Amino acid sequence: MDIAVIGTGYIGLVTAVCLASKGHRVIGVDQDADKVRRLNAGDPVIYEPGVDELLRAGLGSGRLRFCASIAEGVAASQALFICVGTPPSSDGSADLTQVENVTREIAGCMDGYRLLIEKSTVPVKTAGWVERTVRLHNHRQVDFDVASNPEFTREAMAVQDFLEPDRIVIGVSSERAAELMLEIYRDFDCPKIVTDVSTSEIIKHASNSFLAMKISYINLIADLCEAAGGDVKTVADGMGLDARIGRAFLGAGVGYGGSCFPKDVKAFCRIGEDLGLDMSLLHAVDGINERRVGQLVAKLRQALWIVKDKTIAVWGLAFKAGTDDTRSSQAIRLAVELLREGANVRLYDPQAAARARHELPPSDEVVYCASALEAAQGASALIVATDWPEFREIDLAALHTALTTPIVVDGRNLFCLKAMERAGFEYYSVGRRSVSGHG
Ligand code: UDX
Repeated sequence: MDIAVIGTGYIGLVTAVCLASKGHRVIGVDQDADKVRRLNAGDPVIYEPGVDELLRAGLGSGRLRFCASIAEGVAASQALFICVGTPPSSDGSADLTQVENVTREIAGCMDGYRLLIEKSTVPVKTAGWVERTVRLHNHRQVDFDVASNPEFTREAMAVQDFLEPDRIVIGVSSERAAELMLEIYRDFDCPKIVTDVSTSEIIKHASNSFLAMKISYINLIADLCEAAGGDVKTVADGMGLDARIGRAFLGAGVGYGGSCFPKDVKAFCRIGEDLGLDMSLLHAVDGINERRVGQLVAKLRQALWIVKDKTIAVWGLAFKAGTDDTRSSQAIRLAVELLREGANVRLYDPQAAARARHELPPSDEVVYCASALEAAQGASALIVATDWPEFREIDLAALHTALTTPIVVDGRNLFCLKAMERAGFEYYSVGRRSVSGHG
């Protein structure tokens, strides 16, 4: 099928390269002309495993190209995926300005039937607004449909999640739209839920909020383990073996970040409240997450007494391992908090330093390092903020030598308590006993 993908951020680009790999002819549209030039030259712009290969393969096959004109995208396609950003507004609701703008522009160019597909995460009822916008601006009065097709791809796993999904959710209001959507996903071997548009929109927010709830729940249990004496990893294992609960997303730590969970939980609260519902369950999820960084800094304070003027190593800046994305990263919040306390920070992340530079204030107190051990060199303590596998594999003896005082505060529970004890560290993790280093 001829498909346009409007917006080539993480989701748009992954959608474009993956659909091209399935044999569709895809045109990616982005208003950023420089990005379009780089994409057409085979530079994926973002770091996301697998995207570069699929981008080059798509460009090479002639089935994938990029342009900066929505009119060109509309002319070249039958179905258009809307993948533009929906950033949070100050009140927590999603700002849908970009969705409205591109919808208006698409409508103005339509010269025959088109299927508009919402892929961006949007509040329930957005499809109704998209439909109304198309009606108002579709001067030739051509036929069209609006579908909802939420994405469930995780960053760092996006290509795999897109090509081998657990399920595909399709929200439509006509047979014709359902047939086209099923045609797009013909070669995907997974359950496909075809439902109405509102239900589809709700599935997306309900899924992300549920996963965020699991994380905040286990973080609450971690606090309980610390207070009562218990081990949260073993609690999570014990809970997770119950097939009704499952072990996934029961990793306690510094809390969730990224472009989806923090924003989606807040937006879902707003959606529910606008409809007159009590959303306090999800407010609690958000509140627990908001407090995680402060709790970790409190552990550091407890270990160091005075944080001001001390040098602290921070491992990790990305919101999770496997990505260079620092949006709503708890690691960045942590670095900011340490700077606010008057500390000097030595930062290391295998991928995200370049993006972090845009988020952290340029200052003499901030040093970006080329390796994990370099960051630890001369620091009074180390805080682990992102779960990169290379941190887990670090030479503990070398780390011990690098730090001036062997204090590690681990916001990701990466290390084995016994190994840290044997290596002589004072080790504070999340929801587990602290280690004195002399046992
Ligand atoms: C998420 C959803 O998983 C995906 O389905 C949706 O489409 C987009 O949002 P993503 O933001 O890429 O994907 O990250 P995810 O892997 O879900 O992790 C989100 C955050 O939760 C990260 O900061 C991660 O470190 C944290 N997390 C995850 C935990 O703190 N504990 C866990 O057990 C799992």
